[in-house]
Amino acid sequence: MAKDHLVRFGVSMPEDLIRLFDEKIAANGYENRSEAIRDLVRKSLLEPEQLRPEQLVAGTIVLVYDHHAGDLTRELTSLQHDYHHDIISTMHVHLNHSQCLELIIVKGLYGRLTELHDRLRIHKGVTYAELSVTCVMEE
Ligand code: NI
Repeated sequence: MAKDHLVRFGVSMPEDLIRLFDEKIAANGYENRSEAIRDLVRKSLLEPEQLRPEQLVAGTIVLVYDHHAGDLTRELTSLQHDYHHDIISTMHVHLNHSQCLELIIVKGLYGRLTELHDRLRIHKGVTYAELSVTCVMEE
């Protein structure tokens, strides 16, 4: 299929639902339903259940943690060094006296990134850990 070839299709939907959808997408600045639906479909394809471990993807891991908790800062840094091929960049923000927010930009095999995410989030003191895939790289 050519990359820009558009396929038209009809969708049936309850009136109430499409009214709510139209209100929402208008509030978000969409001029028509098509682009809004395309965005929804693209987003749905990045959901974890759609991704395979061997797919090359890019995204972010966001962490919030208490840097006073034991050796946490050192452990999290050491763990990230184990995945240095998968980590493109890291930003650390001191949120307040005790909490840190870390934004880790990642690119690698989905299976490895979920493994890194799992290994980060199990640490005591990590109060938030979210892996978000934003792009599936061309294979
Ligand atoms: Ni900090």
